[in-house]
Amino acid sequence: MEIIKCNSYEEMSKKVGVGIENQFEKNPFSVLGLATGSTPIGLYQYLSNSKVDFSKTFSFNLDEYMDLPFNHPQSYEYFMEENLFAYKQFRKSYFPSEKNYRNYDVMIQRFPIDIQILGIGTNGHIAFNEPGTSKDSLTHVVDLTENTIKDNSRFFDSIEDVPKQAITMGIKSIMRAKKIYLLANGKHKKDILEKSVYGEINSDVPASFLQEHKNTEVLYCE
Ligand code: F6R
Repeated sequence: MEIIKCNSYEEMSKKVGVGIENQFEKNPFSVLGLATGSTPIGLYQYLSNSKVDFSKTFSFNLDEYMDLPFNHPQSYEYFMEENLFAYKQFRKSYFPSEKNYRNYDVMIQRFPIDIQILGIGTNGHIAFNEPGTSKDSLTHVVDLTENTIKDNSRFFDSIEDVPKQAITMGIKSIMRAKKIYLLANGKHKKDILEKSVYGEINSDVPASFLQEHKNTEVLYCE
């Protein structure tokens, strides 16, 4: 695994978009794992304007805040609707929730993820698997760290409005994806990205587990 440096955010987004288009040309039933946050917005814009057809298949999102209604502008379901699903419909799109999270991994095992999109938190989290999360973790409810609450407060009116808990796909299901793209945008992600890719593999930096994945591409731009 190495860090592929892109010249721009657009280049990074397009590289992954083309990877997804190629996969869907080969197999229109490919299953996608999707991330939210600011990083994949360019990718979703690229896909929204592409001819790629997701209507035959499923998507699984990585995570969702607890206690936010689906129509709250900061819920991840709302985010996906706004950034991708309004333009590209899937046969079905799943989000982990209080109702389904005990079955989420079974569903993913039944419909294995061909391509998983990941961002990375400044503390090394992937999805909402915060530092300390085990490599064998399944979909679970998580107490967000102060660091993550602070990072995500930029999307809310005030830090008090950021939910304190979320439901996240665990590391085990993420690692089962056949291909993973980890995207990072901005100098503030450089240190943690280097630690993840070249540092020790342990749960202090959950993204470091990706070193053990056979088909992960890490893309970075400033
Ligand atoms: C969101 C998710 C998170 C983000 C991460 C980076 O679905 O899984 O792990 O990818 O917090 O967020 P941004 O892209 O906003 O820097």
